Amino acid sequence: MTQKDRKPGALVTGSSRGIGAAIARRLAELGYGVCINYVASEAAAHDQVRTIEAKGGRAVAVQGDVASFSDVEQMVRKTAEAFGGIRIVVNNAGFSEHATVEGTTIDAWNRAVAVNLSSAFYAVKAALPYLRSEPWGRIVNICSLRAMTGSDHGAHYATAKAGLIGLTKSLALELAPAITVNAVSPGYTRTDMTRDSLARHGEAILARIPAHRAAEPEEIAALVAFLASEDAAYITGETVNANGGIYMR
Ligand SMILES: NC(=O)c1ccc[n+]([C@@H]2O[C@H](COP(=O)([O-])OP(=O)(O)OC[C@H]3O[C@@H](n4cnc5c(N)ncnc54)[C@H](OP(=O)(O)O)[C@@H]3O)[C@@H](O)[C@H]2O)c1
Repeated sequence: MTQKDRKPGALVTGSSRGIGAAIARRLAELGYGVCINYVASEAAAHDQVRTIEAKGGRAVAVQGDVASFSDVEQMVRKTAEAFGGIRIVVNNAGFSEHATVEGTTIDAWNRAVAVNLSSAFYAVKAALPYLRSEPWGRIVNICSLRAMTGSDHGAHYATAKAGLIGLTKSLALELAPAITVNAVSPGYTRTDMTRDSLARHGEAILARIPAHRAAEPEEIAALVAFLASEDAAYITGETVNANGGIYMR
């Protein structure tokens, strides 16, 4: 990578595994210095850093729980210090768990909303001074098909992800024109999150998807990279579905 290709920092929350890791690798290939954030998977996060560095990219691993504003502040600070600023924030960290309303405790509800929704507000609030000091900035929120369809086995997850769409539009209005804010809404994507359900019900799930397969994390990362690029300056406040057409069924 030449000096000319070196870009400022990109914070990708939850990037030790799955979709976040693919996004971080992609942005690193484009010249961004990426923050590999993890909450528990230290070894996986360091593996991602080594993979990126082996290809000439720049990355730092930063532990932090996105449900904690002070943790998010320190991951933002470390990213900016490591790479001389932040131009891109990808709010990707999230989790889902099967639970009915009766089976969801108040703590579980609050945790799901904190990790899947409040975290995005925290990251934007903490990173905004850095984003504003760049000529242009990009925020991409990783949403879910469940935001549109709802869920009969995870109201907390579906509700938090639906909230991300409202946050995306509100931030897009407030931060235009220099900073665009969009959401990407994946359908079934082959990661640890879907491994069990695809193993147990794969045939039935794939039969409902017009593409007849789950997405690979790299396919979601390619879309995020486009929305995070200078070329996407005229797209803001959108939620882009990448679900193999399942939403039409
Ligand atoms: N896979 C799908 O089919 C699918 C579909 C729609 C939407 N999504 C969304 O896409 C995003 C990524 O999903 P994925 O499938 O890649 O999930 P995944 O394979 O389970 O990976 C989750 C990532 O988020 C991190 N994370 C979880 N909780 C965190 C917290 N409190 N603080 C910081 N990091 C945290 C994990 O860190 P550790 O490794 O340290 O645990 C890991 O890096 C999520 O927002 C998910 O809702 C996924």
